[in-house]
Amino acid sequence: MSRPHNGRIARSKWTRDHASRLRRTPDTTAPIIYPPEQRISDEYHLWDTWFLRERDGSLAEVDGYRVAFSLSASSSLLPGKRHDEACIRYFYSTDGREWTYGGPIFTEGEAFGSRQWAGSVLLDDGDIYAYYTAAGLGDEPELTYEQRICVGTGGTIVTDEEGFHIDGQWNHSVLLEPDGKHYQTQEQSMRQNGPIYTFRDPWFFEDPETEETYLLFEGNTPIDDPDPERTYNGCIGIAHSEMGDPTDWEFLDPLLDGERVNQELERPHIVVRNERYYLFTPSHQHTFAPGLSGFDALYGFVADSLFGPYEPLNETGLVVANPDNAPFQAYSWLAFGHGDEILVTSFFNYFDLNGLSLNDVAFLPESEQLRRFGGTYAPTLRLQVAGNRTRIWGELEYGRIPLEEESLTAPDHVRYRAMND
Ligand code: FRU
Repeated sequence: MSRPHNGRIARSKWTRDHASRLRRTPDTTAPIIYPPEQRISDEYHLWDTWFLRERDGSLAEVDGYRVAFSLSASSSLLPGKRHDEACIRYFYSTDGREWTYGGPIFTEGEAFGSRQWAGSVLLDDGDIYAYYTAAGLGDEPELTYEQRICVGTGGTIVTDEEGFHIDGQWNHSVLLEPDGKHYQTQEQSMRQNGPIYTFRDPWFFEDPETEETYLLFEGNTPIDDPDPERTYNGCIGIAHSEMGDPTDWEFLDPLLDGERVNQELERPHIVVRNERYYLFTPSHQHTFAPGLSGFDALYGFVADSLFGPYEPLNETGLVVANPDNAPFQAYSWLAFGHGDEILVTSFFNYFDLNGLSLNDVAFLPESEQLRRFGGTYAPTLRLQVAGNRTRIWGELEYGRIPLEEESLTAPDHVRYRAMND
């Protein structure tokens, strides 16, 4: 087995120089999203979403069903409060268009954390590995922001005439907690008085080149410097499993860091197309370091092998930005391969703001806050990729998740030009 070449190549960087040139362009600006006629769920707000996948990263299909896992909270809850009550619920579909609610993945009270944040789910030889972030410490009197990377194993899939179910007895274990050396701890971050730390969003990845097994996650690099720019230290973390065991991980140095650029490189994930590694991460306008202005957007980097060096896509890293007149319309983009294209899902976030900031929204009457929050799957975007450039060239329906073998017809609107025009 070949060894991961950690440390052989200098860690890749998203620099202030890259980020200072961030501008929306026609190729990187998403079309406006209108409220859909029907939400995936009337009962729940849905946001970060991921899909049941095989070890090689492809979307899994079990007895004709594909499966989506979403962070969710009661749709009567104010949208800004949803992170405090997040629970992972699953939906299944036979066509990747209509999604049926299955239930919460775990029995109430069983998972670690006072609430669960984003993760990924691997189907490996019939076994399910449900990775998630335990946020907070279980039964806590006041919410804390402790984040640990965990897994549930032992759940079983049942399909019958009534549909698709996840049952069984889960065993939960904590896989990773920041060590203060590779990844910043909550305590270190509090000492610096910077923005709140991150250690979350585990994402399983098998490198097709080496067949080595990895877990990517959102973290921060430890720093020892009072410079306020330096306290913005988001990174894309990675851990390796020596024997390929999906429950046994050892930290490696971060794949890429955004020191002095951005605090939160969220939900990192990789799509390999044409032997190139496309590394994606959604991030927020408000988490850029002082002196920089970015967008709520999907950012991305490309390299010839897993350990880089990565260069920013489109020179700055910008891949999918919300439009200027709807700057918070979508978030938490997740890319996956489809033929020569890369498709990108996200959730429909705040709309109809007419220039209001997200802070302003929190002061609106409750009904107005609820009216302006999508809380459902957004339209899926289609990206063309060529080398270090990407282009949004089309859009599929809300929540449309095609399998690789389902062919897509070329978008019929004028956005399309050949990539090398
Ligand atoms: C992105 C995110 C994730 C986290 C979740 C919490 O939307 O910040 O990083 O797991 O939301 O709700």
